[in-house]
Amino acid sequence: MQPIQAQNSQANIQVKPTDDAPIISKHIYGHFAEHLGRSIYDGFYVGKASTIPNTDGVRNDLIEALKAIKIPNLRWPGGCFADTYHWMDGIGAQEDRPAIVNTWWGGVTEDNSFGTHNFLNLCEALGTEPYLAGNVGSGTVKELSDWVQYVNHNGTSPMADLRRENGRENPWEVTYWGVGNEMWGCGGNMTPEYYANLYRQYATFMSAWDNKAGLYRIASGANGSDYNWTEVLMKNIPKNLLEGVALHHYSVIDWNNKGSDVAFTEEQYFTTMKSALFMDELINKHVAIMDKYDPQNEIDLIVDEWGGWYEVQEGTNPGFLYQQNTMRDAMIAGASLNIFNNHSNRVKMANLAQTVNVLQAVALTKGDQMILTPTYYVLKMYTVHHDATLLPIELKTPDYTLNGDKLPAISASASKDAAGKTHISLVNIDAKKENTVTVDLSKLNIKDFTATILSSDKLQDHNSFENPNKIQPKSFKDFKFKKGVLEIKIPAFSVVVLEGN
Ligand code: AHR
Repeated sequence: MQPIQAQNSQANIQVKPTDDAPIISKHIYGHFAEHLGRSIYDGFYVGKASTIPNTDGVRNDLIEALKAIKIPNLRWPGGCFADTYHWMDGIGAQEDRPAIVNTWWGGVTEDNSFGTHNFLNLCEALGTEPYLAGNVGSGTVKELSDWVQYVNHNGTSPMADLRRENGRENPWEVTYWGVGNEMWGCGGNMTPEYYANLYRQYATFMSAWDNKAGLYRIASGANGSDYNWTEVLMKNIPKNLLEGVALHHYSVIDWNNKGSDVAFTEEQYFTTMKSALFMDELINKHVAIMDKYDPQNEIDLIVDEWGGWYEVQEGTNPGFLYQQNTMRDAMIAGASLNIFNNHSNRVKMANLAQTVNVLQAVALTKGDQMILTPTYYVLKMYTVHHDATLLPIELKTPDYTLNGDKLPAISASASKDAAGKTHISLVNIDAKKENTVTVDLSKLNIKDFTATILSSDKLQDHNSFENPNKIQPKSFKDFKFKKGVLEIKIPAFSVVVLEGN
């Protein structure tokens, strides 16, 4: 849905329920944990011997926090790391596992103490679907097909027997598989034509074994606006070998000058938001190509990396991508998730980069402390959309203007859940102006609304280890609901989620 610019400073939303509206897949609210900086080691995984309370080495506070946002899936082990990773180095007795040098991220030596069993058991503890990213860049067809057999085969076979020897009787039934990552870049600097052939070969030898849900294979997708990449993949990969095509896009100001995570100007904020909102155009254009080759809408678009990317926090390892998370990140999250919801007929999964201590994280850790970020709270507020039916909307929005440039100030999406509750998520990205939004809900039989807001005094505000609860969702009352029309005064740079009963 393309927002239309309103004439006055009032936004207007028409909710238009249809019989054929798609379900907003909960997998749009997916996550991503790479072997990168302090994401796995000293993030998720502190080791069984740690004094930090943990379950099989994974910190309990993080497990609880992720369960509270109903994390639907978790992508692992990369990212760029995935095409250097050899899964067999991460199974068996820990003392026998060879080390790996993480060449993409900081050049650190990892002991492989967190491997396949650790990750898949973590997913079970979280109640989330694993999404394994296979190594195509430096691996082999056999290595990836053996990994699938190791985690999914229930019968007698070399890999299933090895899994049992390593202490796991039943397969984990892993459905989601990435066939390489960023094959145009860190995955091997391939052309789309070369990768499409390679994909066909790898996908052919990936069998579902005993996974009743079957396999869901995701082709490494385009870098932002590389539409030719999607075109070549859609044209050259037979549909029976492909379930999803990926897309990566980060909200970045300039790759050579990304700006501070916290000490940013309004100009930098504006540019970040411009990049975040560009996601809508990217999806429209990639989907148009997919529509051409797949008019039956059988192949999904999977945005398996998205989020804000800034310079690292001063004094931290540049290869570790550790950044703070402010109200700017809440704006990126709220607006991006609205875009995904509104495209939920084709976008079936998205993965925020990344879960903990890396890029637009939902949690940051320091020793035994853990803080939850504004992004975390947006995801928490938006859980109401998981697997709900999209309510298509028509949005007219005023502009957020700066230095002669403009962006749509309001973004929105709406859904109806299985219990019949209606939810509307609104974001006002304007750095200075409150906006009034009217929503015509006369076609729905709603009696009353309650609402929650995420806001703060300054765009640069964030939760810190000293002040961990500065930004949290609060009850919101600045709205009226009369004769089926809702009128909301939404403060500058805030996210509001309304629930209608
Ligand atoms: O998320 C960090 C990195 O960004 C990933 O490893 C890579 O896929 C992307 O370029």
